[in-house]
Amino acid sequence: MCPTGTHLVIHMLLCFLLLPVVLALAPGGPWDTFNYAPKSKTVYSQDVYKIVGSVSGGSKLVGNIGSATLSPKSWIALDFGIEVGGLISLNFDDVDATSSVSLSFTESPVFVNPFASDDSSYPSPNMTYDGVLTVPAPLPKGYWTQPSYSLRGGFRYLTIVSHSETDLKISNVSCAISFMPHVDDLRDYTGYFYASDPAFHDPDFLTKVWYAGAYTVQTNTVPLETGRKVPFAPAGSWFNNATLGVAGPIIVDGAKRDRAVWPGDMGIAVPTQFVSTFDLIPTRNALSTMFAAINPKTGALPESGPPLSQLGSDTYHAWTLIGTHNYYLYSGDDSWLSIVWTNYTRAVAFLEGKVDSTGLMDVTGLRDWARLGGGGYNAEGNAILYKVLLTASDLANYMGDESLSKAWGANATALKVKYNEAFWVESAGMYRDNLTTTLYPQDANSFAVLYNLTLSDVQKVAVSQGLERNWNDLGPVAPELPDTISPFISGFELQAHFEAGEDNRALDLLRREWGYMLYTNLSVQSTLLEGFTANGSLGYRSYRGYNYDAAYTSHAHGWSSGPTSALTFYILGLTVTSPRGATWSVNPHINGGLPSAEGGFETSLGWFSVKWALQNNQFIMEINTPEGTNGLVRLPRVGSVVVDEVAVDIGANGEIMLNGGKHTLVILS
Ligand SMILES: *[C@@H]1O[C@H](CO)[C@@H](O)[C@H](O)[C@H]1NC(C)=O
Ligand SMILES: *[C@@H]1O[C@H](CO)[C@@H](O)[C@H](O)[C@H]1NC(C)=O
Ligand SMILES: *[C@@H]1O[C@H](CO)[C@@H](O)[C@H](O)[C@H]1NC(C)=O
Ligand SMILES: *[C@@H]1O[C@H](CO)[C@@H](O)[C@H](O)[C@H]1NC(C)=O
Ligand SMILES: *[C@@H]1O[C@H](CO)[C@@H](O)[C@H](O)[C@H]1NC(C)=O
Ligand SMILES: *[C@@H]1O[C@H](CO)[C@@H](O)[C@H](O)[C@H]1NC(C)=O
Ligand SMILES: *[C@@H]1O[C@H](CO)[C@@H](O)[C@H](O)[C@H]1NC(C)=O
Ligand SMILES: *[C@@H]1O[C@H](CO)[C@@H](O)[C@H](O)[C@H]1NC(C)=O
Ligand SMILES: *[C@@H]1O[C@H](CO)[C@@H](O)[C@H](O)[C@H]1NC(C)=O
Repeated sequence: MCPTGTHLVIHMLLCFLLLPVVLALAPGGPWDTFNYAPKSKTVYSQDVYKIVGSVSGGSKLVGNIGSATLSPKSWIALDFGIEVGGLISLNFDDVDATSSVSLSFTESPVFVNPFASDDSSYPSPNMTYDGVLTVPAPLPKGYWTQPSYSLRGGFRYLTIVSHSETDLKISNVSCAISFMPHVDDLRDYTGYFYASDPAFHDPDFLTKVWYAGAYTVQTNTVPLETGRKVPFAPAGSWFNNATLGVAGPIIVDGAKRDRAVWPGDMGIAVPTQFVSTFDLIPTRNALSTMFAAINPKTGALPESGPPLSQLGSDTYHAWTLIGTHNYYLYSGDDSWLSIVWTNYTRAVAFLEGKVDSTGLMDVTGLRDWARLGGGGYNAEGNAILYKVLLTASDLANYMGDESLSKAWGANATALKVKYNEAFWVESAGMYRDNLTTTLYPQDANSFAVLYNLTLSDVQKVAVSQGLERNWNDLGPVAPELPDTISPFISGFELQAHFEAGEDNRALDLLRREWGYMLYTNLSVQSTLLEGFTANGSLGYRSYRGYNYDAAYTSHAHGWSSGPTSALTFYILGLTVTSPRGATWSVNPHINGGLPSAEGGFETSLGWFSVKWALQNNQFIMEINTPEGTNGLVRLPRVGSVVVDEVAVDIGANGEIMLNGGKHTLVILS
């Protein structure tokens, strides 16, 4: 986080003295308007959502300008305007011996209810499991703060009900944000993104969704001692005081719930974090938690962190390994990699031990992102294994174990051959789910393109077209989880369309699915939903473990933030290809109808940015990367090329190597 530069010594001193101050380098600009993170970590309501009974001065609670008086049995629902999370404080100004109040919380306005919060402890068909937080009589006169065990990690609406026999006067209702405990200024991002989308009803949509993803992951970055209690709290209560791992702060799956480490979710959330806040310590803590919990006999990693400590998922086991590569690529944290290396190699061996004489992994740990099936010689599991082997081979190189790197690389190559023999169905132009089905799943087909299990570009385009056949107006209905739209798997599908060169299709998907999530008044219009049904209702996974409890769905799930990294990695085309961005690549995707785009991010080597514009027959791009780095630029169109005002003869592959620094590239077609 601490940048190098001319004032290196002073910066290092500041870093030592002022930790955890974040020194962000992202430039200011019109994009800052779309940053959802609040300016202060103490937030007040932005509006009154509803009043029932007689409440005078209710609007004075908005922005904290005065006090309100609640007559007996009345209630007021306050709207914080965006997703927030933390402990409520308020002042009880006028109380008597009979006075008591209850507080209830909800993300969606659909569940504003004086008798119940939305559910976070347990999914129950009556949708009112959690109940309310009662502040019993006699109320303390003056300033009061909610007890920490009753923290609500994610909500937008707070309902305050008076159970007094006389008028109750309150004021100063605030929420102390509990997420990002190590950061003072929540808006201090290291990265930014900005693009206008004239084809959409809201031209600022892409910028908004980039920031919505970033803020979603911030709400998932939490103090160590704020996990959901397991075994779950009894009906009518919730407890968020469980320990989440070996160190904090730590990244979890959702703000309201589950509030546990889930490595699959991190496959999307961590790239978001990289391009927006470069806040990688919570990720390191989450990964360390998983490796510390490895089964010493088998080498199996848990599916989730404590206190849930769910076991039995081959794919989530694999995601911890892929996440290790992501973390190392972004951070270059050699000492951490050395510490986990023994357990990492045992965990790779655990998966390789499931590859039998067919050359495919026989998936036996069936738990996964909620999809049905998934067992045996399954295409999704084997696609993820392929990515594990590629990234393991890369990491072994960095660890100086060349022979292990070669062995994993060779097994990846062999797996790719078997994968295509086993799962590719030429007549469908897609991969099947397993050897005994004609179901073509969203997950495996997205991963196959994204991880380059395909053998040709033609195959990539066919899969991209095939995936579109699952779409309705709101996004892809996953064949492997009927009636469900999964923004998690769609985050990979989005990247797959870009990889296939189908920029228009990628943006179409983005506008449909994330457009729905960002604008629907069923949700919080600031962070991103865990999932929804094919018709857009909140009953995500109703029949698949969530007991028909639509109030249980999370409205701030980092796994749904795929567009944030995709806009940076594909629309700008800016990615790192070796640790900390010592080498990088720029491969902008300009065929989605956008006139221009700009943005960048920071690593410990410095600032990386791209800004491009299409004007008539001219494409102009500015690239800025740290001195001492170098990268490969893939030109997005053919034409005569001018780099830094010098005409350049580009080879047939349309690529050019550049050293770090500032460059301007112009293509005239
Ligand atoms: C959402 O908007 C629709 C259409 O304007 C309206 O009918 C509905 O009551 C709103 N729902 C909520 C929860 O505000
Ligand atoms: C809701 O269902 C749970 C069991 O799932 C039960 O314990 C609880 O009392 C019910 N709540 C209400 C308000 O009926
Ligand atoms: C009002 O609430 C804020 C935030 O919790 C607190 O810092 C402040 O002391 C309170 N003011 C009074 C007068 O109690
Ligand atoms: C969580 O808080 C409850 C209520 O105060 C308490 O009974 C319980 O022991 C706490 N759990 C932990 C792990 O601190
Ligand atoms: C590695 O695994 C062992 C159990 O086999 C565990 O005791 C140890 O803490 C783990 N090491 C790390 C760094 O996670
Ligand atoms: C094979 O795939 C189908 C379709 O997804 C699924 O119903 C079936 O359970 C799968 N087989 C196994 C062994 O998981
Ligand atoms: C490579 O695959 C073979 C055959 O499945 C297996 O025996 C070997 O252990 C694998 N190598 C590594 C390094 O995992
Ligand atoms: C993808 O795989 C093909 C061979 O199947 C290979 O030619 C190509 O270089 C690979 N692409 C990347 C980006 O690794
Ligand atoms: C939307 O889908 C859900 C779940 O399948 C269903 O219960 C609900 O009735 C549907 N709503 C509408 C308006 O069709």
